[in-house]
Amino acid sequence: MVTQEVDRVDQIIDRYIAEEGTLIQILLDLQREYNWLSKDILKRISERLEIPVTHIYRVASFYKAMSLTPRGYHLVSVCLGTACHVRGGPKILDKVEEVLSIKAGETTEDMNFTLLRVNCLGCCALGPVMVVDGEYYGKLPRTKVKGIIESFA
Ligand code: FES
Repeated sequence: MVTQEVDRVDQIIDRYIAEEGTLIQILLDLQREYNWLSKDILKRISERLEIPVTHIYRVASFYKAMSLTPRGYHLVSVCLGTACHVRGGPKILDKVEEVLSIKAGETTEDMNFTLLRVNCLGCCALGPVMVVDGEYYGKLPRTKVKGIIESFA
């Protein structure tokens, strides 16, 4: 390929990379604003950006930070990645499920908490790890779970 062709190919690729970045930023801002991304929101983005709604749906369902179902006011994530799993992550998850009376992936009826099971939070040495609204609790004993959750209630 001659240099001019490479530049032109790059221009076209860059155009789409920029659009993808824009789409992700819009989705993240709307997620922050509404705490989830409804069908109406996805449809509106599709109309405004002239991107197929199926593509937006695919992007939104790929990122853990985005939710296509209503989320509770507080987000609790329990890590069950390998390191956390061997250090008692499943017992932490059981305890959170017991305290909130919901299963992983569900939201409490009062919309106060959503519980997620995640694969690795990038701080394996601290396992088992639970995160509530961005606050990390590492080397977490099962006995402390209830108190932490209740402090957010
Ligand atoms: S496995 Fe839990 S933080 Fe990595």
